[in-house]
Amino acid sequence: MKIWPGQFLAAAAGAVLLAGCNQSASPGAGGDTIKIGEFASLTGSEATFGQSSHRGTQLAIDELNAGGGVLGKKIQLLTEDNQSQAGQSATVVRKLISSDGVAAILGEVASSRSLEAAPICQQNKVPMISPSSTNPKVTETGDYIFRVCFIDPFQGTVMANFARQTLKLQNVAVLKDVKSDYSLGLAKFFKEGVAAGGGRLAAEQNYSGGDKDFNAQLTAIKAANPDGIFVPGYYTEVGLIALQAKQLGITVPIFGGDGWESSSLVTIGGAALEGDYFSTHFSPEDTAPAVQNFVKSYQAKFNETPDAMAALGYDSAMMLADAMKKAGATDGAKVRDALAAEKNFPGVTGTITMDAHRDASKPAVILEIKNGAFKYVETVAP
Ligand code: PHE
Repeated sequence: MKIWPGQFLAAAAGAVLLAGCNQSASPGAGGDTIKIGEFASLTGSEATFGQSSHRGTQLAIDELNAGGGVLGKKIQLLTEDNQSQAGQSATVVRKLISSDGVAAILGEVASSRSLEAAPICQQNKVPMISPSSTNPKVTETGDYIFRVCFIDPFQGTVMANFARQTLKLQNVAVLKDVKSDYSLGLAKFFKEGVAAGGGRLAAEQNYSGGDKDFNAQLTAIKAANPDGIFVPGYYTEVGLIALQAKQLGITVPIFGGDGWESSSLVTIGGAALEGDYFSTHFSPEDTAPAVQNFVKSYQAKFNETPDAMAALGYDSAMMLADAMKKAGATDGAKVRDALAAEKNFPGVTGTITMDAHRDASKPAVILEIKNGAFKYVETVAP
């Protein structure tokens, strides 16, 4: 068999990664710290996702360290920026595992980026917890991959029922991002939910993340005369879509999923988003004491109100620390077993129990955009 140089290098790199991880019973815990890796979109098109998630994660690590750390050691968080770019997550996660020797990985928000890193973590037996990737395929990668959020078959159904029952829509259009696993999955589950509820699909159009002009798609959607438009996308494109829809004279409600949640959404879409809705994981208006304590500590540290990604980032780090304590070790297989056994973990985004697929079954919240702010509408239980 002929081996291409690239193949050889890849195989060699894989061998080094595996060797690095099997050397010690307590990987990432050499010296007096436990190293935890985080990969996030700190810059680029989804920068607010990564920044929020990172702040929530950092707050958890600081609180854990202030309380004495984990297994008698302080936690060292090593954070890598993937710049919201395809390909970068794989690169930085390989580095975190092979050069830094982290015991576990936290990340990512966007499903496509979690899907890039998950096979690397799985292959190296390094537990990975995605705080907020909702596409089912993420945890299907293998038994080392976990998440602390709900998944899109649920989120899609929640928004289909909201469209049918609350907004009373009969005839909905869908505008999705074909470059995003999240968008493709959520569009599919939403359409299934609408069909199950007796609604009709008026039109379906595609875009690619990074696009700026949606006039062709919106013109086609307008011609189909829907009574609402579901846009399962991320905030940068969603803001522009809402703006351009209004400019074309489209007045029906536009609504979407958690990918809308960003302080930049309204900066981009402005008044065009008034009266629109999206589903997400958390509302800082929740009066539960655990939520209000978290909101206060986060505001004190970062001078802003936490969003869903911040809350899920916090929960992902706290649940990892809890699993390490229960495992009594940072060994990948032991931490994996402890994560798989997590039950009724009290997160700020709700109670987290790992199901057989390493997903969390939790309620969704629906928010409305009102006077440029996100207002709590309702909570929908699974
Ligand atoms: N759920 C989205 C995805 O899987 C990411 C996301 C989570 C965005 C939470 C905003 C808030 O890609």
